[in-house]
Amino acid sequence: MKIMVVGGGGREHAIIKKLKENKKVEQIFALPGNGGMAKDAKLVPIGAKDIEKIVEFAKSEGIDYAVVAPDDPLVLGCVDALEKVGVPCFGPRASAAIIEGSKVFSKNLMKKYGIPTAAYEVFDSAEEAMRYVESCPIPTVIKADGLALGKGVIIATDREMAREAVNSIMNDKKFGDSGNSIVIEEFLTGPEVSVLAFTDGKTLKPMVSSMDHKRACDGDRGLNTGGMGTVAPNPYYTEAVAAECYDTIFIPTINAMRAEGREFRGCLYFGLMLTPKGPKVIEYNCRFGDPETQVVLPLLESDLLDIMMATTEGNLDKCEVKFANKSACCVIMASGGYPESYKSGFEIRMDSAVSDSVYVAGAKLEGDRLLTAGGRVLGVVAVENTLTEAIDAAYEKVRKVSFEGAFYRSDIGKRALCAIGGER
Ligand code: AMP
Ligand code: GLY
Repeated sequence: MKIMVVGGGGREHAIIKKLKENKKVEQIFALPGNGGMAKDAKLVPIGAKDIEKIVEFAKSEGIDYAVVAPDDPLVLGCVDALEKVGVPCFGPRASAAIIEGSKVFSKNLMKKYGIPTAAYEVFDSAEEAMRYVESCPIPTVIKADGLALGKGVIIATDREMAREAVNSIMNDKKFGDSGNSIVIEEFLTGPEVSVLAFTDGKTLKPMVSSMDHKRACDGDRGLNTGGMGTVAPNPYYTEAVAAECYDTIFIPTINAMRAEGREFRGCLYFGLMLTPKGPKVIEYNCRFGDPETQVVLPLLESDLLDIMMATTEGNLDKCEVKFANKSACCVIMASGGYPESYKSGFEIRMDSAVSDSVYVAGAKLEGDRLLTAGGRVLGVVAVENTLTEAIDAAYEKVRKVSFEGAFYRSDIGKRALCAIGGER
């Protein structure tokens, strides 16, 4: 089979490596991919948002199956466009991808179907929003409606910050049209858990849980980033919590989407907060998480392509989704200065013994040299029997990868270990 993966980060590298395990796969194309995955896939210089060219390529190359990984092309209707020319896809159509594409949509969906989430108000006028923040409880959480590269959420710890957030999103259009409407919601507390789930719209099979580390620096300090590391499973997500989430959040969500005529097929990402009043949805994503995928897929024992195709064909109920009873840790190595300005073009060196454990996000090939070409450059992943072992092994491997200015957090997984009393 000829497979095409749309996207170009560490998440896509993890998907490609896993797909390669299936014997039916003859060739994988990455659109655009990045230089660090050149030995796993053929790179095709077509941007992930260039839907016309993606469709043209799929037709001319005779692609048998497409995986659309990032949010933008999904929300823009990449799956719809590929299906129209007869290419089966993994990923939701635009009508279902709206669950991530519009926070107003997802909040209203949860309210209508009684799915637990933070209390909220929606505003499409800056004046009304300003009036509301003068008297709402503080801290409060202000979210741009549309996609905003993961940066459209502001936690206002005082009233002035709330006013500034409303102003920058709605008047200054910091996130463009994504800020035409905003959600202002209740500030929740509790451990956060990411759960990715395969679904064909009727059946849902959750993957192993994970924990992201969004802040740039140790101790959860510094600016928010796209994610500096992950561990799986997330020890806060006990069997009892999992059962509650399945019954009160996961199944109600796919049923709600079906009832709205927006059947969701693909990977549905539940960003959850385990509050004192029970698990609540912080956000939905219509795709695999990054860097969650880099710890979740290495633990998958069943065949990824078979599961993906079952979500497309609507027979996920007959498909086994099994995970190893092990732990994984991913440490992101970023360019010095990230998430603010940083330099690129530094040579990445790694010991050949660890290259299979490296998932590359931002790099380009120059001859046979691999150069940094992004903020988050790569993720180093280890799978071991226990969380402690996985963390130690990941940092052991990190020492065998280098590039000028590389920086990474040294405490990935620490909070997770605390949750289980420092299991050794
Ligand atoms: P999101 O992009 O919606 O995942 O939000 C980014 C981060 O903001 C989340 O991972 C949470 O840490 C935080 N956050 C979002 N919504 C809330 C909320 N209602 N209460 C507390 N923290 C929140
Ligand atoms: N790691 C968070 C996300 O993929 O949105």
